Amino acid sequence: MRYLSAGESHGKGMTMIMEGFPANVTIDIGEINHELGRRQKGYGRGLRMSIETDSAEVLSGIRFGKTIGSPIAIFVKNKDWESWKLNMSCENIFHDEGLSIKAPRPGHADFPGAIKYNQEDIRNILERASARETVIRTAAGALSKQLLKAFGIVVHNRVISIGGIEDLNVIEKNDSYWERVKSSEVSMYDPDIEKRVKQSIDKAKEDGDTLGGIVEVSIFNCPIGLGSHVHYDKKLSAKLAMEIMSLQAVKGFEIGAGFDTAIRPGSQIHDEIYYQDTYHHKTNNAGGIEGGISNGEPIIFRAAVKPIPTLMKPLQSVDMDSKEKVEACKERSDVCAVPAAGVIMENIAAWVIAREFVEKFGGDSLEEITANYDNYMAYLKNR
Ligand SMILES: Cc1cc2nc3c(=O)[nH]c(=O)nc-3n(C[C@H](O)[C@H](O)[C@H](O)COP(=O)(O)O)c2cc1C
Repeated sequence: MRYLSAGESHGKGMTMIMEGFPANVTIDIGEINHELGRRQKGYGRGLRMSIETDSAEVLSGIRFGKTIGSPIAIFVKNKDWESWKLNMSCENIFHDEGLSIKAPRPGHADFPGAIKYNQEDIRNILERASARETVIRTAAGALSKQLLKAFGIVVHNRVISIGGIEDLNVIEKNDSYWERVKSSEVSMYDPDIEKRVKQSIDKAKEDGDTLGGIVEVSIFNCPIGLGSHVHYDKKLSAKLAMEIMSLQAVKGFEIGAGFDTAIRPGSQIHDEIYYQDTYHHKTNNAGGIEGGISNGEPIIFRAAVKPIPTLMKPLQSVDMDSKEKVEACKERSDVCAVPAAGVIMENIAAWVIAREFVEKFGGDSLEEITANYDNYMAYLKNR
């Protein structure tokens, strides 16, 4: 399975073409829109998100609520396009050079992008670098979740810190835990910590500043055997790392105990193996992946999200025409996008797992995949 996306942040909209998604999977378009809606929420997002109410227009690949094996094309309109029609026109019309952006924002794609693509107007870079693109990653994940649901695989995310304030609650993560996290505006379990985090986001906004944080994603009920140890580009851990690190603003990634494994001795890190009806591990410091292969435990990873580069109190930059010292450019922006990044990561994880699932169990239709899966699960029972 693969997909490509196209679209600029203030262009007409975002487009996806996905190929290889199996036939006969029941798809509820409402669930795609539900995920798109979750991506837009979260305390600290800018005005832009209240302008857009994302809705997926499915152009192909689904008929009467089921996939038919042909490429799935989805278009999500940018509502903001109406006010940007002239400034983002594809036609060679007169445009006001004075609107060009010349002062790159530290931390954004502006500076290296303008040089690499030989662009005078930084808008030609930021429009595509923008996280608006993640609308498509979320739609791809929402489709994937509906395939994974047929096999009982579910994905959740929680935010474990924003601006250095941590929610490291270690209570049992059952359905009501995840419901509470989902209902929180900062995707945290503890209401007192949520309150403190919101105050700190308000303070950052007042100061013209921005905040980052850490997200944790958990994937439950993955069978043993997704990914492989045999080649660098087949490892499930590497595939997750690549897709998550490609999300805008992600600067760190760890699986299971991650960076902590570098500090603790082997006897305290490696997860002892037991057998009682089935195999299980006493702990899960490996985060559900050993040798690049899922080992049957929940897959757990964390990612660090840096603070948003656009600051209302801008940092120093250089006008790329005059080479004069200036303030970096600014435009309507989020103060904190960590909860939104969590929703996107959850959907990216669903996409990666669905792709691996189809790779492992093969087949062009849900029935073929189910038969292969059932056969493999019967084999596992006898190991
Ligand atoms: C959900 C989400 C929303 C974002 N919103 C903004 C924003 O409003 N303004 C901004 O400057 N950067 C925003 N970013 C971050 C930039 O897109 C990102 O920092 C930039 O493209 C440079 O890429 P890099 O941080 O991966 O190096 C957002 C990131 C995510 C994940």
